[in-house]
Amino acid sequence: MEVLFKVIRQTENSSPVVQIYRLEAEPGNTILDCLNQIKWEQDGTLAYRKNCRNTICGSCAIRINGRSALACKENLKSEIERRENIPEPGSNASSIPEITIAPLGNMPVIKDLVVDMSSFWDNLEAIAPYVSTSGRQVPEREFLQTPQERSLLDQTGNCIMCGACYSECNAREVNSDFVGPHALAKAYRMVADSRDGLNENRLENYNYDTKCDSLLSESR
Ligand code: FES
Repeated sequence: MEVLFKVIRQTENSSPVVQIYRLEAEPGNTILDCLNQIKWEQDGTLAYRKNCRNTICGSCAIRINGRSALACKENLKSEIERRENIPEPGSNASSIPEITIAPLGNMPVIKDLVVDMSSFWDNLEAIAPYVSTSGRQVPEREFLQTPQERSLLDQTGNCIMCGACYSECNAREVNSDFVGPHALAKAYRMVADSRDGLNENRLENYNYDTKCDSLLSESR
């Protein structure tokens, strides 16, 4: 099938421009497959991140048709069907399907689809995302948890830190002091961890300030 990729391209301190690529692809191709095809066959200057190609590493998060998602997870067929359900003014149903690709939001663009994630990682660091054993007897072997204790970590433990939630976060958009949903999820994960010895300090510091310097130094 033929498809048009409208890619929002930008370099640091420049205005974004839309570049259109026409490509021949299979409905089951992922968006990342298509970006690779563009880069390898049409335009080697297109910049984007990728690594595992298997929804594990989180590197390939971008905005696809207006929402933040993993390029290696979404495929052409579902994207086109999704877009057809949201008709745009003046759009022609019989025209070649279009996919719009843009960089993640709430982070400055370095080049094309590559954003500077420094604030994302700094805010994660601010909540001291390490299980601390300070103030406890360290066992000779491993820390044991019951299945029930471990199950409390399942949901937030599945977060792969791709930055999609941060990109979509309206609170972050209007408040640069807000650490972001990824950091809050990780903070919960730390407080819920039965092996952590800093629960009270954590809650106090989370309540007091997003920049938990004292907690960071204690956990090291
Ligand atoms: S390339 Fe690793 S999550 Fe997409």
